[in-house]
Amino acid sequence: MRDQLIASETYTDMRPDRLFLLVAALYLLGGSALGVWMGVNHDFSLRPLHAHINLVGWASMALFGLTYRAFPEIGTSRLAWAHFTFALTASILFPAGLYQVSMGNEFGVIGELGVLLWLVSGLLFAVATARLASAKRCRDESSVWGLPNNDRTKPPLPKHVPID
Ligand code: HEM
Repeated sequence: MRDQLIASETYTDMRPDRLFLLVAALYLLGGSALGVWMGVNHDFSLRPLHAHINLVGWASMALFGLTYRAFPEIGTSRLAWAHFTFALTASILFPAGLYQVSMGNEFGVIGELGVLLWLVSGLLFAVATARLASAKRCRDESSVWGLPNNDRTKPPLPKHVPID
């Protein structure tokens, strides 16, 4: 029973940090594949799209995920969930606008909405980090390393059942 509980926690515990990292990895794949396509075909017209998929999708999402992982006191907040929702939506719409530009069209309403949502998501992240900065102390500062007493010189103790 206990093992079942641990297993179900391990497999169903969706959190913004993990989702951000998953999305980041998918964008890394997509953005890099587009880079390979550009190189093979000597067609660099989608350069801005490639750069933004990688920087908005891969780099930013990975940084958000790592930040929420490093600071669990904000990592599972409603603010973090809202941030994830806005950032994910924006990361689709904004590059869609850039694609339109590369095709010779207007940036368009979709792209503009993407930029707006990206700005809102940035604001939410700023609020989350401001809360962190103004907190008296971290509730569980050692949680990144899995160590009690902030002793970071010793190797981390496993906190969860490892995922195979
Ligand atoms: C397999 C991986 C990748 C390949 C094959 C690739 C390929 C390319 C190519 C062919 C260009 C155009 C170069 C030119 O115009 O002379 C380019 C530009 C660029 N790439 Fe990548 N890339 C890859 C991964 C990445 C990653 C991971 C990032 C960022 C995290 C990135 C960021 C950029 C940026 C910022 C530019 C410049 C865009 C511009 O000038 O408008 N790339 N890449």
